[in-house]
Parts: sequence; C-alpha cells; structure tokens
Amino acid sequence: MQRYNALPDFPENYGVVMTLTNRPRRLLHLDSSPRRDGCSRKLTQRFVTIWQQANPQAQILYRDIGQQPIPHLDEIWVAAYETDPQDRSPEMREAITLSDQLIDELIISDCYVFGIPMYNLSVPSTFKAYIDQIVRRDRTVSFQDGIPHGALKDKKILVITTRKFSYRADSGRAERDFQTPFLRAIFAVIGITDVSFIHADHLAAEPAIRQTFLTEAEQTLEQLALHW
Ligand SMILES: Cc1cc2nc3c(=O)[nH]c(=O)nc-3n(C[C@H](O)[C@H](O)[C@H](O)COP(=O)(O)O)c2cc1C
Repeated sequence: MQRYNALPDFPENYGVVMTLTNRPRRLLHLDSSPRRDGCSRKLTQRFVTIWQQANPQAQILYRDIGQQPIPHLDEIWVAAYETDPQDRSPEMREAITLSDQLIDELIISDCYVFGIPMYNLSVPSTFKAYIDQIVRRDRTVSFQDGIPHGALKDKKILVITTRKFSYRADSGRAERDFQTPFLRAIFAVIGITDVSFIHADHLAAEPAIRQTFLTEAEQTLEQLALHW
C-alpha cells in the first residue's frame, strides 16, 4: 500500500497527473478521531485494506487530522482568501498554503473515505476546521446568482461515523443528528453529491448491543469495499 501524508511528486507532476486518463485510481483516506485507538480509525482502515486488495493498482493518500489537527482560520488566512492570488503578500501566501494542499489532495483523488466521530451532535471541531480550509470560492466552488457550483463533481465519498447512540429514523433522536445533514450539505456545495454513510452506532451500549451494531457496520463496509 502506498501511503503518504503529502504527495512527494507535488506540485511538479501535478499537471501530468491531471492529464493522465489511465492512471491508477486514487483514494484519499482521512481520519479525524483524536484517539489513536478510535473505532472510526479501525473501520476506515478495514475498508481501505479490503478496497486496496480489490484495487491493487490504486494509490492511497492518507491524512490524519485527528493526530495532526488542521489549524482554524485566522485573520491573515481570511485576508488571503479575499485577495486575488497574484496580489497576496508572502504572509498571506504562507497562511493559505495548507488550504491549497488539502484541496489539491481532493482534486487529484477519485474517491474519499473519511472517518468522522460524532461530537456534540455534529462533527469534531478539527473536522470543521478542515471543511473551512477546503471550501474555497476560488478553488472548490463558484457562485452564480447565489447558487453554488462545486468543482468536485465526479468524486464520491464514503463517510464512516462512530456514535455513542443511534440517530436513525427509528431512534427518536433523528432530529438531533446535525452531523449527517451538515456533511451532505457542505459536500454538495463543493460538488460531491455521491455520498454514502456507514454508521457505527450504540458504541457505549452494553457489550452485546455494541457488538451487534459494530458487526453490522463492519459487514456493510466489507461488502461495499469489494465493489466501490
Ligand atoms: C467530546 C465528545 C462528544 C461526543 N458527543 C457525542 C454525541 O453528541 N452523540 C453521540 O452519539 N456520541 C458522542 N460522543 C461519543 C463518540 O461519538 C464515540 O465515542 C465515538 O466512538 C468516538 O469515535 P472514535 O472511537 O473514532 O474516537 C462524543 C464523544 C466525545 C469525546
């Protein structure tokens, strides 16, 4: 398995990569749990391992924003965002470099597998920081008459969530799930509408119940990984 945090051949070969029509598929694997032994990590890893066996030529890019958090946007970042690239100061260019790199990873990948725990009914703040870095008017989305047109139209994403409770339709908690609708909405803004979710629920329940839901999530992702 080929794994790297930053693309070793970037940016020199970037144009070449984009023009290759028969290049190997690329999968971006992202974990956002701060816990090294987090359940979402194990599930994304399981999916990627099986997917890699089914796609032996494919390349895997890996980004761990749980262990290596993405910085929140600051004043200089916003100034850079609001300034045309050719007019940015060196300080602005430096502030927005990581954002460009994260977006490049999305552009050169064909599909994405993200592990995202539920935190306080939504996503962990480190994942929100990642979203703030990749939703860029000048790169991943343009607006016409206030309607967003996303640049990542031909991509697909699998989101594996881990949650203490269940927020499914029959759970009585569905209206408190701000994670799934937020992710669908923000991915749509940048053009990603092929979005699949696998929820590993009830992770704090008694062992038998926990195991039932964990097994269900594992079996679902194992099946999906063979043909995704
Ligand atoms: C700060 C914090 C907030 C959480 N908020 C929720 C929540 O709102 N709903 C829920 O079902 N689980 C919640 N959990 C439980 C986690 O989603 C659960 O432990 C999950 O397994 C964490 O993912 P990980 O094992 O990949 O780290 C929370 C956990 C933490 C640490």
